[in-house]
Amino acid sequence: MSELLPALEAAFNSRYGCAPQHVVRAPGRVNLIGEHTDYNDGFVLPCAVHYHTLIGIHPREEAIVDVTALDWGAESDQFTLAGPIASLESKPWANYVRGVFAELLARGYSLRGCTIAITGNVPQGAGLSSSAALEVGLVKALSELNGLQLGLEEIAAIGQAAENNFVGCACGIMDQLISATGREGYAIAIDCRSLALKPLPIPRALALLIVNSNVQRGLVDSEYNLRRAQCEEAAAHFGKSSLRDVSLAAFDSGLSGLNPVAARRAKHVLEENQRVLDMAQAFESEDIPRIGQLMAQSHRSMRDLFEITTPEIDALVDIVQRVIGERGGVRMTGGGFGGCVVALLPEDLIEPVQTAIADEYEVATGLKETVYLSRPQAGVQLIY
Ligand code: GLA
Repeated sequence: MSELLPALEAAFNSRYGCAPQHVVRAPGRVNLIGEHTDYNDGFVLPCAVHYHTLIGIHPREEAIVDVTALDWGAESDQFTLAGPIASLESKPWANYVRGVFAELLARGYSLRGCTIAITGNVPQGAGLSSSAALEVGLVKALSELNGLQLGLEEIAAIGQAAENNFVGCACGIMDQLISATGREGYAIAIDCRSLALKPLPIPRALALLIVNSNVQRGLVDSEYNLRRAQCEEAAAHFGKSSLRDVSLAAFDSGLSGLNPVAARRAKHVLEENQRVLDMAQAFESEDIPRIGQLMAQSHRSMRDLFEITTPEIDALVDIVQRVIGERGGVRMTGGGFGGCVVALLPEDLIEPVQTAIADEYEVATGLKETVYLSRPQAGVQLIY
């Protein structure tokens, strides 16, 4: 179910004069560790969160699509399925929708015309994957409406391809895959090469706290794509198609001739992959000081080697880290250049952490934080 369902149904009815035939719910995500490793065929450890996107859908006779985004001032978009689908500069949200249709059509699926309404509460631009939730929810809704019977892995791959080919962000598979396959109470260790999934419970002593820095994220796609190109450059230097195939020993001995920026990026990825594996072990043995160390190392590496944090994010992490000490961990989460930090901490530290942030973050940065408490949630679901 979803607390957003009544509003979605009411809006659907008033705009389209009927109830939706199907409603799908797809979650956002937070990544606990393993950043910018997914497109390097590496390891990640995300979980789905309770923030989610809801999609209502109903078939229509004509081969056209009419879609309304309730959270974008009920703006709507119409396009035909009879010809090529172009991207729209004026309505950025609509390109996620158009991209999913274009990708399904390119793969040879035949799609009926339909009306769609979209709403959600995943904070946008916060690095919690509101776009993946939209893509995954829409692919699932179209699968139901058209009887496509798409599996979860395929749903994720189509969502990612829409973003790669239509929206123009060369993202990896993590966000879409966790939005599709999340499991209540579990983080999921994902091998982004084999797509093997290993559900891991977060140690019982730890709660999950997410703090939005509210840093305006600019130029994210271009910086993101640049990082990806630098990783590919480093892999090519070592004669490999992906950094997954470069060992730390081979990296250390083969550095000569590699551009130093690409070398820093690659070092982050290689060590971050190892940290994900170590984190999975620390989860299993409930080794909380080790979890804290790994998260701190990951943050420093994103700051100094991958260079995707901002001064505000670093200040936020420092404030939280000081309160948590060795009783948990904190790091930036997601693609970077703003967004959220994620902390794993004992319940009794939630309040002191919130107080410290309230006292210090705005003074240090001029920005006011937003705090979210969450638990790992299930992946995409057909509500009806
Ligand atoms: C974004 C991308 C993901 C992943 C992360 C960084 O969220 O969509 O594929 O690369 O950044 O870990």
